[in-house]
Amino acid sequence: MLIKNSTNFQSVSYLPKPKVYVTREIPERGLKVIKDRFDAEVWPQYGPPPKEVIIQKVTNVDALAPLLSDKIDAEVFDAAPKLKIVAQMAVGFDNIDVNEATKRGICVTNTPGVLTETTADFAWALLMAIARRVVEATKYVRTGQWKVGWHPSMLSGRDIYGATIGIVGAGRIGSAVAERANGFNMKIIFYDVIPRPELEKLGAKRVDLDKLLKESDFISVHVPLMKATYHLINEERLKLMKKTAYIINNSRGPVVDEKALYKALKEGWIAGAALDVFEQEPTPVNNPLLTLDNVVVAPHISSASHETRSKMAEMVAENLVAFFEGRKPPNLVNPKALEVRPLSKQF
Ligand code: GLV
Repeated sequence: MLIKNSTNFQSVSYLPKPKVYVTREIPERGLKVIKDRFDAEVWPQYGPPPKEVIIQKVTNVDALAPLLSDKIDAEVFDAAPKLKIVAQMAVGFDNIDVNEATKRGICVTNTPGVLTETTADFAWALLMAIARRVVEATKYVRTGQWKVGWHPSMLSGRDIYGATIGIVGAGRIGSAVAERANGFNMKIIFYDVIPRPELEKLGAKRVDLDKLLKESDFISVHVPLMKATYHLINEERLKLMKKTAYIINNSRGPVVDEKALYKALKEGWIAGAALDVFEQEPTPVNNPLLTLDNVVVAPHISSASHETRSKMAEMVAENLVAFFEGRKPPNLVNPKALEVRPLSKQF
């Protein structure tokens, strides 16, 4: 492991340790390294620190380790004259104003790869739960509605085996979702702005978004959130879907227009939705989507397996250690930051 084998910059004991602010108790495997190697302060509460706290804490730090629920923007950077690196524990980084960071020569890192399979597994958990009505069935049994032993039409759902799956965004996670679809003998189509020959080798076909929406029985969304993908799935596009089709989203909430989705589900333009992400998180308990039986929801937990979350925390530590040892962090998302302020001028 990179951390264990790396030269220890702290062996030069008269150098002060770089200061790091960590916005949550991240898993021990990463946190221990951060605490050992840096002068670290950790926000101790379960919920996120208020923005004012982050602004106050960054005034004197060299590094910040936030989560996707922390908004890291120009206001934060303005308050942080010594900040050199933002090492986020997530693959997505839409909460960070990367352009602002780059302009100031601040490196931004993320945790790609380690969460791919876990997140793809969860997209499938959502897909299977909505198609086979697992949550409705649980409620049915628990609330005493199961009064006859077996009935031919009790809680009938949709077949997954042999159906068509449409992957919107066929990067690492989208591709991993597609690989699993082969095991269900599904027809796989995908929409992406770039060709994905590896996916075509699996038998998947690249199509335009409208065609994907019209032909899929299950649509699984895996694009990052950016200007071009905000409300990518809007009213007009939901209207293209089959009445019997389902949409699954475990990418970012704002990719799907929730108001339009509610209308689509309520008025029966589509059959159901399974969502791990929301336009606002936590989603308010009075979100009308939560009143619908044909919606399965989860609180943004797609990468939440013990092992994966530990690996993500470890990657945060690896990125910080590499940077403060004068090496390019392995998961740098804005290499241009090092043109603005090269590593030799960071310290
Ligand atoms: C989770 O949503 C992540 O971006 O890692």
